Amino acid sequence: MCPITNTNFSYSKTLMEFPVDFIRFLTSATRVVVLTGAGVSQESGLRTFRDAQDALWAQYKPEDLASPEAFARDPKLVWDWYAWRREAIKGVRPNPGHYALVEMENRIPAFTLITQNVDGLHRFAGSRNVLELHGNIQRVRCAECGTFTETWGDDTESVPLCVVCGGMLRPDVIWFGEALPRAELEAAVKASRSCHVYFSIGTSGVVQPAASLAYAARNNGSVVVEINAEPTPLTSKVDFAFHGKSGEILPDLAKAVWGV
Ligand code: APR
Repeated sequence: MCPITNTNFSYSKTLMEFPVDFIRFLTSATRVVVLTGAGVSQESGLRTFRDAQDALWAQYKPEDLASPEAFARDPKLVWDWYAWRREAIKGVRPNPGHYALVEMENRIPAFTLITQNVDGLHRFAGSRNVLELHGNIQRVRCAECGTFTETWGDDTESVPLCVVCGGMLRPDVIWFGEALPRAELEAAVKASRSCHVYFSIGTSGVVQPAASLAYAARNNGSVVVEINAEPTPLTSKVDFAFHGKSGEILPDLAKAVWGV
């Protein structure tokens, strides 16, 4: 059972201190898992899905754009929406939160970064052991035969077609109602069930199965930490909660633990 009692901290930029027992625990941890969500990319200029006025799902209906049914109903609408998001992502760069996670990976023997983000910014920042649970928007594959392609025309009246079978191309992301990639999910569950410290960063914790990984870690006796701009359904279940911007908290944490 986890030795540390529940402590909630509202992090303000000037408060550089982290709880001593937390620092001590993280310093000695050799197996660490981090789950990230859209919040970790917010400071790079990408919109999240649920938390802000300009959140994507406040303006668009996920059922109209991010489901197999939506693609069957209006493939061009769905294709164009992902093309628009792909362009938005091309225009941004990782932020200090992404880079601090790279620093952590460089100093922790078994570090697993599980992300719900399809923006590819973790790898762009230099993260290596990344499990993309929801796919990657920069990858495109055939909706029929599954063939991946590096090139496709975006300036067409209709959805580009697969050169192998003629099927329509689609982004290699997981839509609502679709199963997650088996290998990534199994690796994520395995890592979460055997880590010393589990971080939930920049995610509202409402989308399954990703949201259940923290509980798998907790049931394993891991120290569970939340870093998020606001409390989530997970907050009351964690050992440490730091509420603020991940692009500020993570660099300070890396400095406090490893002096980087
Ligand atoms: N730093 C830390 N947390 C932040 C920041 C920030 N700078 N900005 C926003 N947040 C927090 C918000 O408070 C919110 O709790 O990030 C969370 C983002 O939550 P969502 O928008 O729900 O995104 P996410 O949890 O990643 O969504 C999960 O849902 O729509 C699907 O497939 C999509 O992967 C996505 C999944």
